[in-house]
Amino acid sequence: MEGKLMHAVQYFGYGGGPAGLKHVEVPVPSPTKDELLLKLEAISLNPVDWKIQKGIMRPLLPRRFPHVPGTDVAGEVVEVGPGVKSFKAGDKVVAMLNHADGGGLAEFVVAKERLTVTRPPEVSAAKGAGLPVAGLTAHQALTQSAGIKLDGSGEQVNILVTAASGGVGHYAVQLAKLGNTHVTATCGSRNINFVKSLGADEVLDYKTPEGAALKSPSGRKYDVVVHCATGIPWSTFEPNLAPNGKVLDLTPGLSAIVTFAVKKLTFSKKQLLPVLLNAKGGNLDYLVKLLKEDKLETVIDSKHSLSKAEDAWAKSIDGHATGKIIVEP
Ligand SMILES: NC(=O)c1ccc[n+]([C@@H]2O[C@H](COP(=O)([O-])OP(=O)(O)OC[C@H]3O[C@@H](n4cnc5c(N)ncnc54)[C@H](OP(=O)(O)O)[C@@H]3O)[C@@H](O)[C@H]2O)c1
Repeated sequence: MEGKLMHAVQYFGYGGGPAGLKHVEVPVPSPTKDELLLKLEAISLNPVDWKIQKGIMRPLLPRRFPHVPGTDVAGEVVEVGPGVKSFKAGDKVVAMLNHADGGGLAEFVVAKERLTVTRPPEVSAAKGAGLPVAGLTAHQALTQSAGIKLDGSGEQVNILVTAASGGVGHYAVQLAKLGNTHVTATCGSRNINFVKSLGADEVLDYKTPEGAALKSPSGRKYDVVVHCATGIPWSTFEPNLAPNGKVLDLTPGLSAIVTFAVKKLTFSKKQLLPVLLNAKGGNLDYLVKLLKEDKLETVIDSKHSLSKAEDAWAKSIDGHATGKIIVEP
């Protein structure tokens, strides 16, 4: 592929939103060592993609420009680097790229073998591409942070999932229901039936007073909150938590960090814990297998062609996706 050009979408500095995305032709990258060159079939967007462009993540993820955004991809292996052991040209895969390099909004990308997994024919490219950031974060919060066993063993746990209609939330509800759990979920009124169909035992409309107060309709106190929404203060969570309840905050702001520190320092039994995804290939493989076995579903909000990537970007910034936003080259 050396010397061949491909279509890609780049931005050239912080800010600019959808208008900051530019359609360019750049050389197809070459895989080195442990890398695979993928011809992409689908890319899914995550809020972190436009948060990086906005400069919100600057201290954690300083950017080099120009930058091709997007980390969650599915496609076909075209070439492999000399150190690649488990894949060959023609294999269908799902991969997660790292946030520093990105590269997803393009026709081709290089992915590390470590975060690439086989995609069986039962799993479409779009459904596979939905998984990496959103699915792995939901999985990590439930299994690693909350200790839920997804084989259904263990004591029953009461879980609240906020923003259950979004990318992370819709996976979190489904994965939680693989464990021995009672799931309360919040979403907007238009998504109540959708979230029930994912398996939630009770659903709260976040725009009603009961929903805003996070009160379980059945009077349960939450052992675990997978907090995928933003802007809910600790004082709203606290009265709804079981004595050892934990809030797993996916988007911790300054006040959440202060609450985290205060709860730790005072040995509080009720805790707020920030969650930061630490992606693992084995977990991605597990999630792809759940899709194959129809134990998990990627719900697609909308599909956009790469030539209209700015529409997908605007949709993600808007914050009202139901499931995952997909871009197709
Ligand atoms: N820490 C990490 O490693 C990590 C990893 C992944 C994601 N995240 C963060 O987690 C958050 C969720 O990500 P996502 O991909 O799920 O976002 P998303 O797909 O954009 O979420 C959109 C959904 O959230 C719903 N929503 C918004 N505010 C709500 C509220 N107050 N109560 C209930 N539902 C609400 C919207 O419903 P309506 O349309 O009805 O408003 C919409 O369906 C983002 O801030 C993201 O950056 C963090």
